[in-house]
Amino acid sequence: MQVFEGGHEQVVIREDAATGLRAIIAIHSTVLGPAAGGCRHWAYPDTASALSDALRLSQGMTFKNALADIPFGGGKSVILGRPGVSLTPRQLETFGTWVDELGGRYVTAEDVGMQVSDLRAVARSTRFVSGLGTAGFGGDPSPHTALGVLNGIEAAVRARLGRDNLDGVRVAVQGLGSVGFQLATLLRQRGARLRVADLSEERVGRAVKALGAEPMDVADVLFADVDVVAPCALGGVLNADSVPRLRATVVAGAANNQLATDEVGDLLTARGILYAPDYVINAGGVISIAGEYLGQQDPEWTAGRIRGIATRLSAIFERAAATGESTSRIADQMARERLTRAARSELQGDREVA
Ligand code: NAI
Repeated sequence: MQVFEGGHEQVVIREDAATGLRAIIAIHSTVLGPAAGGCRHWAYPDTASALSDALRLSQGMTFKNALADIPFGGGKSVILGRPGVSLTPRQLETFGTWVDELGGRYVTAEDVGMQVSDLRAVARSTRFVSGLGTAGFGGDPSPHTALGVLNGIEAAVRARLGRDNLDGVRVAVQGLGSVGFQLATLLRQRGARLRVADLSEERVGRAVKALGAEPMDVADVLFADVDVVAPCALGGVLNADSVPRLRATVVAGAANNQLATDEVGDLLTARGILYAPDYVINAGGVISIAGEYLGQQDPEWTAGRIRGIATRLSAIFERAAATGESTSRIADQMARERLTRAARSELQGDREVA
């Protein structure tokens, strides 16, 4: 049986003298299907930091994909960049050949530092890539991520506030980028009262004008006197410093790696704050990318799974309430359970179908 924690199935470290490209592809698990996860282009201080990022992120993708109800395992790749230097088309094509040589065990997509135009160059050398949007569906994952987060906020509000709709519910959105702005728009359409903050004054101005949002200082938005806080900017915002100052009773947003450590999840539980685990609530994008890769033109394939985010979160909230454990630990347990079931049926020659 393949292991889920720590052990990776395959890690490839490549260097191309001709183009100067250096990249790491980490396949954590293919128990549920090909290892899917984006490619990050980042100026790492050294190879060891790049490797540890690839190992950590690919393991995270195994858990995320397992709870997103898609037939994919977890993987991730990193390209070791130099500050301020873009990748050349030849480098991107070379990266594509490395992905291709894995024969479909790893499927790449966009991540920090990579754009759709970069992926199109990668796609010249491999078909094991998604998020291009060239077939007329899929493409930019952010609208799907925003919709999934909205569904997740509705589930959390139902569980914590006993409310069936968002009319008049006060929500603070931290970060009005691709996901945050679309989320704020959806929230407004459902009658939520918005408070917003972003480093970009232009984005805040647009939200104030178009959505009637109340602007806040970036330093204060997390601690706003609201029902729900939606972190949609940075990771690590929930930590031993910030959690005691939260006033909202629900934290549900798109940002990756919101908890600085696992123990912060326990702190949230102890304070009676309902936290929607980030990798569960923000899975709309990966669901869309999976659908595009599988050639699923039926919009219901993606839409049904995005609605499923609310169902899964409700199950997590219920189990957390019953056991007293944090929602983040329950999410990890549920991901492990799905992986164990799939690994068992794989051993019996009967791959689980998501
Ligand atoms: P983005 O880069 O388009 O937007 C981030 C926004 O946050 C920017 O407007 C930026 O000015 C703002 N920001 C940065 N620091 C801030 C601070 N201290 N206070 C307030 N605002 C701040 O990113 P995007 O795509 O909207 O993603 C947002 C988060 O969601 C990220 O953590 C990302 O990893 C995560 N995510 C995004 C997905 C997607 O489909 N784009 C999928 C899953 C997760």
